[in-house]
This record gives sequence, C-alpha cells and structure tokens, in this order.
Amino acid sequence: MSGDAKTFVVTGATSGIGLALARALAPVAERVVIVGRNEARLHAGTEATRHEAVNLEIVPILADLGTLEGARSLAEQLDQLPRIDALIHNAGIMPAQRRCTPEGFEESFVTNHLAPFVLNHRLRARLIASAPSRVVQLSSGLALTVRVDLEGDPGGAGFEPVSTYARTKLWNLLATHDFAGELERSGVTVNAVHPGIVRTRLGEGAPGVPSAEARRGWLPPEVGARGPLHLATAPELARTTGRFFDQTREVAIHLEDDQAKAVVQRTFEALGQPHNAG
Ligand SMILES: NC(=O)c1ccc[n+]([C@@H]2O[C@H](COP(=O)([O-])OP(=O)(O)OC[C@H]3O[C@@H](n4cnc5c(N)ncnc54)[C@H](OP(=O)(O)O)[C@@H]3O)[C@@H](O)[C@H]2O)c1
Repeated sequence: MSGDAKTFVVTGATSGIGLALARALAPVAERVVIVGRNEARLHAGTEATRHEAVNLEIVPILADLGTLEGARSLAEQLDQLPRIDALIHNAGIMPAQRRCTPEGFEESFVTNHLAPFVLNHRLRARLIASAPSRVVQLSSGLALTVRVDLEGDPGGAGFEPVSTYARTKLWNLLATHDFAGELERSGVTVNAVHPGIVRTRLGEGAPGVPSAEARRGWLPPEVGARGPLHLATAPELARTTGRFFDQTREVAIHLEDDQAKAVVQRTFEALGQPHNAG
C-alpha cells in the first residue's frame, strides 16, 4: 500500500448516493476505501467502482455501522491506512420501525449519529496527520425542521420514521459543527451537505415516505453525489470549514454552539466514555 496515495473513504458505498460517489471519485483518487455492511453488495460496489478508472486501488471493508462494535472496529482498520485525504460519512438509514441495539440505542441513532461520531473522534489524529484533509458529512435539510431531545432521542422515544430520522440527523449536524470548531486551524476541514431529494432506497417501505412510484421525479443518485464530491475535492474549498451546503451551494444556517456542546457531552456520556476519548 503506497504511503502517499490520495485516499478517499466512503461509508455506505454499496448503494444510492454512496455508490455513485465512489464511482465519481475513482478518476480523481489513487485509493478509494469502500465501506459496506453486506458482502455481496460490497463486492458489486467494488467492481462497479473499479470499472471507472485504471490504476485505482480499491480497499473494500465490511463493517456494520448499526453497532458500536462495528464503528469502533472500522475506525481501527481505517487508522491503519497510511493517510486519509477525505473521510466521507454517507451511510444512513430511515427505518420503518423502532429497533434497538443491545445497548438500548435506536438503530438510526447509531448509524446516523453515533457511528460518524466514533469514527471522527477515533480518527482525529490520523486526519490531522494527513492534513490538508477533509471530513464530509451527508446531512439532510430535514435536520433543520426538528429539535433535539437529549434524553429521549438516543432510545428513539416517540419513534416515527421521518421525524426520528430528522432528529438523528440534527444530533449528527450539531456534533459535526462542534467537530469543525475543534479542528479549526488543524488543516482538517469539516463540512455537511444536503444532497438534494434523491431517488434511493432510503426510507423504503417506511410509513410517511413517498412510494417508489412517487419518487420517480426525484434526482438520480449521480446528481445526489455531486454535492459530497464537491466538498471532498473542490480546490476552492481547501480552507472552508464548519459550513452547510445544499448540493454544491453553500447556505447559511444557524446552529447554537451551546446546543452542539450539549449534544457532544450527551453523546460521550451515552458512549460511556470521558470527553474526547472517542
Ligand atoms: N436520498 C435522499 O433524498 C437523501 C436526502 C438527504 C440526505 N440523504 C443522506 O444521504 C446518505 C445516503 O443515503 P441514500 O439516499 O443513498 O440511501 P441508500 O440508497 O439507502 O444508501 C445508504 C447506504 O448506507 C449503507 N448503510 C446503511 N446502514 C448501514 C450500516 N449499518 N452499516 C454500513 N452501511 C450501512 C447502505 O448499505 P446497504 O447497501 O447494505 O443497504 C447504503 O450503502 C444518507 O446519510 C442519507 O441520510 C439522502
């Protein structure tokens, strides 16, 4: 494994926006790390990405980001990479029903918030050592339509597919905002992006989510991948950090620093770890 190969990591690169993104990164990357939870889809995603470029190293990693153990094990594996130029948190879910992990966390709270949180904090040193490097978080405009419930959200209190998803995305967005502040002037940029309303498998079958038929007019995944691709690669964004983008356009949003700190504190407590232990 060559030490200075330009390396992009994409979680959830086996379908939808993540797969389109891995394929779009292939021509500009030297190494793409494709993370997926299903072996057959991981293999298919690897092959599809391989077809986009010659001389590209592809590193497929099987990891279930719906468990803390899966997130921690992935962090350990990614920490072995010689460098990480961009860590792109794309994996996300909108479950139809409330399901909890053995630790009592609602499944989408783990996948959408705890997993990227654990990865960011465990890979902090690797990202700084790789600077200039970038963290790109797939977010959602829905995050801006809800409020956090510090006690209820981790266990999915009052579960409803769309609003629960939105709250997990708000926890994630607030923690991303805090992480950007923490890494200011480190050479690591941290930005979030709403990819548009994209025709993928997200929320399939969940009550309140439009049917496949109704989604026909939504953006194709290749268009949804443009925003995260822009954040991960655009030279003009080399120093841009702590911002929110709607596809490729930066938009001003207001996030309370105090609320972000409260979310981070509550997340470390939920993980049973002292602040900054990841
Ligand atoms: N689609 C939209 O309109 C929209 C709008 C705003 C934000 N987003 C965000 O965009 C991101 C990508 O979503 P998408 O629309 O492309 O949905 P998708 O087609 O369902 O893709 C989600 C990806 O995440 C992976 N994933 C889910 N749970 C995982 C787990 N436990 N461990 C590892 N990987 C896991 C999936 O793997 P499998 O292939 O195994 O299922 C898949 O590769 C998400 O963060 C979503 O919140 C999407």
